[in-house]
Amino acid sequence: MSFDLVFFGGTGDLTWRKLMPALFQAFRHGKLPPGGRILSVARDEQSDDKYRGWLKERFQDVEGGKRPSDEEFARFAELLHYRRMDLSQPEHYAGLKQWLEDRGAATAVLYLATSPHLFPQICAQLGAVGLNGPHVRVVLEKPLGHDLASAQDINRVVRSVFSETQAFRIDHYLGKPSVQNLMALRFGNALFEPLWRRESIANIQITLAESLGVGTRGDFYDRTGTLRDMVQNHALQLLSMVAMEPPSRYDADAIRDEKLKVLRSLKPFTDDSVARDVVRGQYRAGNAAGKPVAGYLDEIRVPPDSRCETFVALRTEVQNWRWAGVPFYLRTGKRLPARDAQIVVNFRPTPHSIFPGINRPNKLVIKLQPEDGLELHLLAAKGTSQNEALSAVSLDLDFDKAFPETRVGAYERLLLEAIAGRLNLFVRSDEQEQAWSWVEPILQAWNRENAAGGVPRPYAAGTWGPAAASALVARDGFAWSEEQ
Ligand code: BG6
Repeated sequence: MSFDLVFFGGTGDLTWRKLMPALFQAFRHGKLPPGGRILSVARDEQSDDKYRGWLKERFQDVEGGKRPSDEEFARFAELLHYRRMDLSQPEHYAGLKQWLEDRGAATAVLYLATSPHLFPQICAQLGAVGLNGPHVRVVLEKPLGHDLASAQDINRVVRSVFSETQAFRIDHYLGKPSVQNLMALRFGNALFEPLWRRESIANIQITLAESLGVGTRGDFYDRTGTLRDMVQNHALQLLSMVAMEPPSRYDADAIRDEKLKVLRSLKPFTDDSVARDVVRGQYRAGNAAGKPVAGYLDEIRVPPDSRCETFVALRTEVQNWRWAGVPFYLRTGKRLPARDAQIVVNFRPTPHSIFPGINRPNKLVIKLQPEDGLELHLLAAKGTSQNEALSAVSLDLDFDKAFPETRVGAYERLLLEAIAGRLNLFVRSDEQEQAWSWVEPILQAWNRENAAGGVPRPYAAGTWGPAAASALVARDGFAWSEEQ
């Protein structure tokens, strides 16, 4: 199946840091369908060859094993093309259409890797020149909107030009192999299903921790904050996959219908519950990997009086029969002790312990990164004597070791899925808008707090966030996984 893949924002950070290296991996793994062309469009005037040379240089920043040799790059570069486009000029879209039609590939995938405020303009212009036929797909990179109203504005324009089945909204977490494994664990095995409910589960914790700070992205980050950057999308997507009912088929709409139902069942926030159940934090100077690091307010391009949050912890519930009363805790932030993403399912304790003094509940840890694996924590007898203590042991499964040859990165997978036209790993507009409407009361409450002089709670870089995050969980009689 021949395809053309077009990157709007072809000289931007996302394209050269993530998308091109991912495409190169797909190419190297022999996964890119034959007969493909990759076109980068951007504002500068340059030839295909100059663009190829520029990209080759950028690839020097790609981590070691993923960097192409000269010979590999030369073969990959044969697929690369460049075209100058001023995105406000209708005739430039007509020129692009012509370029695509001259060859008439079976599929055209248009990847909008630009600033999202340009999405409505680009989509409208694509529609105006008729670049929205059934063989065209549009891929929209996050952040999709800044709040519910702006997300709806973008979606309105996208839907007026493309059908929902042509729109591929990226949440790169859905491309991670570990997230695929979550579906496999839940719906490919019958073992856990009878336990996957309020009767057996005490609480669920989702942690997406990063050890890095905001780096050079201070201006973007300060307009965004952790709630928009990580919670509205990645954390809520994970929550909905953990909590969803089994879809009737492995198909995009069956899966997305079930995720949407979870998002609609989340307990809505009020001002009181935001104050009680949501903790926002901002890092101060501290340590990362044993070295002193600056606080958020001292990062470049961050205003010295910023109220932007770099950490969020919250408690919510999924209000349905399966989950009534089970707390779901989400926690994510920058400058935490490690890069570590995991979902911890804490089971209830045994109803009656026959081992004096010991009643340690089981837990299932779904590890998303840096490793991709599962740990099931159990108690086992250490020795033969009845009086000897039980000991905690875990069954460990490491998917990177189990399937070393099939591991692919999130962007590689998502690009290949978009080219193949499979929507399972992309977010539908109603899910996305529902997620925005759920976080909106938090954003509004914080705006009011800020106006009244409120600030995020400080935490030292290299710690697990403000103490209030531990108190949030302790209030229910629980502890975060690392404190258990
Ligand atoms: C992005 C956020 O969506 O996800 C970044 O904009 C964040 O701020 C990144 O660092 C985390 O992704 P990953 O795959 O490294 O966990």
